[in-house]
Amino acid sequence: METKIISELTTENLHLVAESLRRGEVVAIPTETVYGLGANGLDEASMDKIYAAKGRPSDNPLILHVPNADSIKPLVKEIPDTAYKLIDAFWPGPLTITLPKSDLVPDRATGGLDRVALRCPDHDICREVLSLAGVPIAAPSANISGRPSPTTAQAVYDDMNGRIPYIVDAGICTIGVESTVVEVREDGVTILRPGGITKEMLETVVENVVYDPFLSSQNEAPKAPGMKYKHYAPDAPMRAFIGSPDDVADAFTKVIRERENNRGAFLVSEETYDLLKDNVQGEFHVYGHHGDAVRLAHNFYKSLHYFNECGVDYILAEGVENSGLGVAVMNRMDKACGGQIIYL
Ligand code: TXA
Ligand code: MG
Repeated sequence: METKIISELTTENLHLVAESLRRGEVVAIPTETVYGLGANGLDEASMDKIYAAKGRPSDNPLILHVPNADSIKPLVKEIPDTAYKLIDAFWPGPLTITLPKSDLVPDRATGGLDRVALRCPDHDICREVLSLAGVPIAAPSANISGRPSPTTAQAVYDDMNGRIPYIVDAGICTIGVESTVVEVREDGVTILRPGGITKEMLETVVENVVYDPFLSSQNEAPKAPGMKYKHYAPDAPMRAFIGSPDDVADAFTKVIRERENNRGAFLVSEETYDLLKDNVQGEFHVYGHHGDAVRLAHNFYKSLHYFNECGVDYILAEGVENSGLGVAVMNRMDKACGGQIIYL
């Protein structure tokens, strides 16, 4: 199968894509977080094709994407007040809520769980495709299972060429890390995966917001089965450092000297780049000012794809503090590094 990148986002082309989704095909679609691998979320055979294209274990449930809040009504048993509050505040946007599923939702979408994950993306082209398709669209990130998520159409193409008919190209995703996944109950919410909507933001509308214990301890059973798999791994081994630009530059320089016969890649802030650029050789990706979690999130997966293309031997990254959007991006960095994060 030849994979076509659709960059001319005409009404005619969006109809073509929606038609393909209705026929049961898998199409890559843009969202504000990362590109998704979409298929009809009410049809088991269509969703089987997603698992096949990703090489993903089929007990890992999918998020159903909808064009507006009204579309979730047939998909759930009930909508607690907490959910209405979250939807009013954060939809469309990078927040996925799980609610008890109705019989309309196939087990294939939920991996057999009794809750379904729902999200309305803050992306006009995406929502237009969702409206035209007329069915909820199940969409995991459009990468081969275990690899970094794609934030550009080219990154999708690199993983999915030959596996799907179309990629809808709407440029780079603005946020760059996946949505926050929360389990919603009458009495509060549990964050199953940190993402674009932070704990602090959730606390502005809901009183009782907690992180799932699995996020900080490997001994707890994960509620979001996806969290137990290897994730976001670049081709080369990666290590991350957190500290002042001076400390990070010193730590990098030490490793670079030890590995003088290897080709390194460095994800750094502008300040750290200024300290390193005249002294070391390697592939640099500069994300923004020191400590800027928003810019790091936006650039994170893109940098990993770039380093994969360069074919480097090892990667060093400069992390940010674990607060605000930093929680989401450091959660991805931790997995990409296999836990190799060093606080300086
Ligand atoms: O930003 C995003 O959420 C992107 C874009 C494409 O929308 N999608 C995405 O999907 O990241 P995926 O499949 O890569 O991650 C979905 C996460 C997994 O960790 C999965 O285990 C969890 O959501 N999840 C899905 N359904 C669930 C459910 N019913 N209960 C608990 N966790 C669920
Ligand atoms: Mg994913």
